Amino acid sequence: MQTHKIAVIAGDGIGPEVINEGVKVLKKIAELDGSFQFEFEFFPWGCEYYLKEGRMMAENGMEILSGFDAVLLGAVGYPGVPDHISLWDLLLVIRKSFDQYINLRPVKLLKGAPCPLKDVKREEINMTFIRENSEGEYAGSGSWLFRGKPNEVVIQDGVFSRHGCERVIRYAYELARKEKKTLTNVSKGNALNYSMVFWDQIFREVGKDYPDVETHSLMVDAASMFMVKDPARFQIVVTSNLFGDILTDLGAAISGGMGLAAGANLNPERKFPSMFEPIHGSAPDIAGKGIANPLATVWSVSQMLDFFGHEDWGKRVLDVIEEMLVENTCLTPDLGGTAKTWEVGDRVVEKLAK
Ligand code: NAD
Ligand code: IPM
Ligand code: MN
Repeated sequence: MQTHKIAVIAGDGIGPEVINEGVKVLKKIAELDGSFQFEFEFFPWGCEYYLKEGRMMAENGMEILSGFDAVLLGAVGYPGVPDHISLWDLLLVIRKSFDQYINLRPVKLLKGAPCPLKDVKREEINMTFIRENSEGEYAGSGSWLFRGKPNEVVIQDGVFSRHGCERVIRYAYELARKEKKTLTNVSKGNALNYSMVFWDQIFREVGKDYPDVETHSLMVDAASMFMVKDPARFQIVVTSNLFGDILTDLGAAISGGMGLAAGANLNPERKFPSMFEPIHGSAPDIAGKGIANPLATVWSVSQMLDFFGHEDWGKRVLDVIEEMLVENTCLTPDLGGTAKTWEVGDRVVEKLAK
């Protein structure tokens, strides 16, 4: 029997609440299928761990994780630990050390999902964001000079390597070709006169290998506007780390909210484990109340199933999410319902079994 080894990092706030439901779904699927199984190991890393141990993960944490096929992550960050420490020492270190340079985030308005845009048809919101996930504005390079002095200076570098830009842009072209979709490049070459001019140049260079792919290029400011005014323009989108972060929260807002937004951090070469997570944070405002929406996590579980080659199950899980949205009888408060987090998970499992 095929075994997939999953490292589970539930993390902080609503992380453990939503992760429970993701694990529940994976267990049920393995049971229903019978030809593969999951082996879970749970790691208590996160802000509580930090307050006890003085670190966000075990000292040999990355080495431990490297023995798994995938990581399932809830959310990281909680008041009491500075965000730049909690995120850099757990989530971001995993993305970078495991060279998960593709952050694949679907922005698709499923049937039944609420949308704040008027005059937009449901099928017009159906995009896939390919966000650069290893460098760029998130390179973590810079300096802090004369700290606390009147002449204090802070520098945050953007690092755009040819290798780093080419590989993510090529991945996006390949996906556009495979899915016969248009590819939109989002950048900001008018103001960012080194990094984004270079990015755009590479977009054109790589594009020479894909004459069959229809492309568009937009500045990130205009892209934000069009995502609201004319989302049908976007199919596959490729963009930098920070722009992708921001635009996918906007994407979540137009496709049902943070409770429905999923993401996969992929190392396409499979040299390292990939990581699957909802794109939302630890939501301290609702943590511990049992009302967090687990469907974003369930959607990321669907991405994990795809990545393992169980696309039939990946699709089935997504179909179940859509059925639940249409039925509108077992949803959490963010989607206008009264269900608890675990009730939503239980319903997903029940539907899968049918
Ligand atoms: P957030 O995503 O945690 O919350 C934003 C808003 O969305 C809140 O009102 C929250 O209640 C709501 N929300 C989020 N997920 C929801 C869900 N599943 N169901 C229902 N409502 C949901 O963003 P924030 O408040 O900016 O950040 C809180 C903490 O999380 C910070 O420490 C931040 O650094 C961290 N963070 C972590 C990740 C991650 O681990 N991937 C992502 C974003 C933010
Ligand atoms: C996300 C998050 C992270 C990011 C933060 C928590 C570092 O916002 O996954 O979207 O900016 O990548
Ligand atoms: Mn984000």
